[in-house]
Amino acid sequence: MSKIREEGVIDPFSVLIDLENGTMPEPSNRITRKASDMRGYYADGKALEELITSGNDPLHYEVLERPVPQARGHLMYCISRLMPGRVGEELFMTKGHYHSVKETAEIYLCLGGEGYMAMKTAGGAWAVERMERGRMVYVPPTWAHRSINTGREILSSFCVYPGEAGHNYGDIEKEGFPKRIFMKGGRIVME
Ligand SMILES: [Fe+2]
Repeated sequence: MSKIREEGVIDPFSVLIDLENGTMPEPSNRITRKASDMRGYYADGKALEELITSGNDPLHYEVLERPVPQARGHLMYCISRLMPGRVGEELFMTKGHYHSVKETAEIYLCLGGEGYMAMKTAGGAWAVERMERGRMVYVPPTWAHRSINTGREILSSFCVYPGEAGHNYGDIEKEGFPKRIFMKGGRIVME
């Protein structure tokens, strides 16, 4: 984090984003989720345990960031990198979250790979948007969001959201999403 001059005021700075490889070469934070962090999220819990034990607990996704103050007025940003793979027939995905401050949106600009952004509201609305290099997904306020990698490459995105947004994972842990995305017989299936 940059030097804080007074409350909420920091010095300007710049960060290199490697657009070609969809990464941030010099992040100050790297948040990782391995297969063992994803217990309870996939339909096939047994396949996940096999991946953890026999598959050497592979990296599922990582978030690269240089954080700014988590305060109104700031824009938090990151690079999200979701690995390709499957748990049984279900495609690798992120945990998914609501924002703690529900009135906050998020932008995902996909830099590489292919997949979907799955979104839901607490009221039961459901949506998916395609993710592919150059496509931007707008996640409106109140929508929980999770990305799913349907391809063979890393699904990478540049994300921006209000500094005060925060993350609420607990509700998704309890509710899940209305549909899951599988690869069955070489075809992508949502059910
Ligand atoms: Fe978010």
